[in-house]
Amino acid sequence: MIERKPEDVFLDPRLKKLDQEYDSYTPEDFQVWRILYERQYKILSGAASEKFMKGLETIGFSADSIANFEEVNKSLAGVTGWAIQVVPGLIDDDLFFSLLYHKRFPASTWLRKKENLDYLEEPDMFHDAFAHLPLLTDPDYTRFLKDLAAIALKHIDNPLAIDLLSRIYWYTVEFGLIREKGQLRVYGAGILSSAGETKFCLSDEPQHFPYEVEMVLNTPYWKNKFQDRYFIIEDYAALYTSVPLIEEKLAGLLEKGD
Ligand SMILES: [Fe+2]
Repeated sequence: MIERKPEDVFLDPRLKKLDQEYDSYTPEDFQVWRILYERQYKILSGAASEKFMKGLETIGFSADSIANFEEVNKSLAGVTGWAIQVVPGLIDDDLFFSLLYHKRFPASTWLRKKENLDYLEEPDMFHDAFAHLPLLTDPDYTRFLKDLAAIALKHIDNPLAIDLLSRIYWYTVEFGLIREKGQLRVYGAGILSSAGETKFCLSDEPQHFPYEVEMVLNTPYWKNKFQDRYFIIEDYAALYTSVPLIEEKLAGLLEKGD
């Protein structure tokens, strides 16, 4: 395992000295945030996990102002001790998992343009902040992020292992569904920031399966269209309690793959 001290991870030269420059957001940025926020909030009421909706409140998000990372960090400090790490965009796997392991969630600070509200090559701040940060208020969810990162760091030099673990991350953190009071709800950030996929994933069109580690590890995914299957957890504790099984099944698959 690559054991790096937190200060070494946070000062990694690949992160440069990045901060959110809140004053540099333009009126158009504020407008884009408002349009996306209002549209998504309407769709998510009754579709998103309750924990997510509560999390939005806890970290003080609203349509009126673009997420302010300093304020979010203050709110998170009091609940789970997580914080945001500003990143330039997609980052290397080792850095990504090292940050998660040290309770830092990587987020970009740029926002999509008005003429490009629905298609993005790379995640922007509306995805990274609006869709990911509210659940960082939940200790079961954040424990999973940290524990999953720990396994990834053990295997960081093995591309097959990282590929397989990405499937777990993908079908939970990005595209996971949860059952709450008998109803299917969304908690995956890739869905929460997409107007179209929020409706689609809860419809009868895609397949729905219970979250089952071995099946997820064996399910490839794609990035440029809606998923054709989703995995459902019964509660957030189901995520971190599945970590020992993830480790065991991963070891089995790696043995076979050798
Ligand atoms: Fe994401």
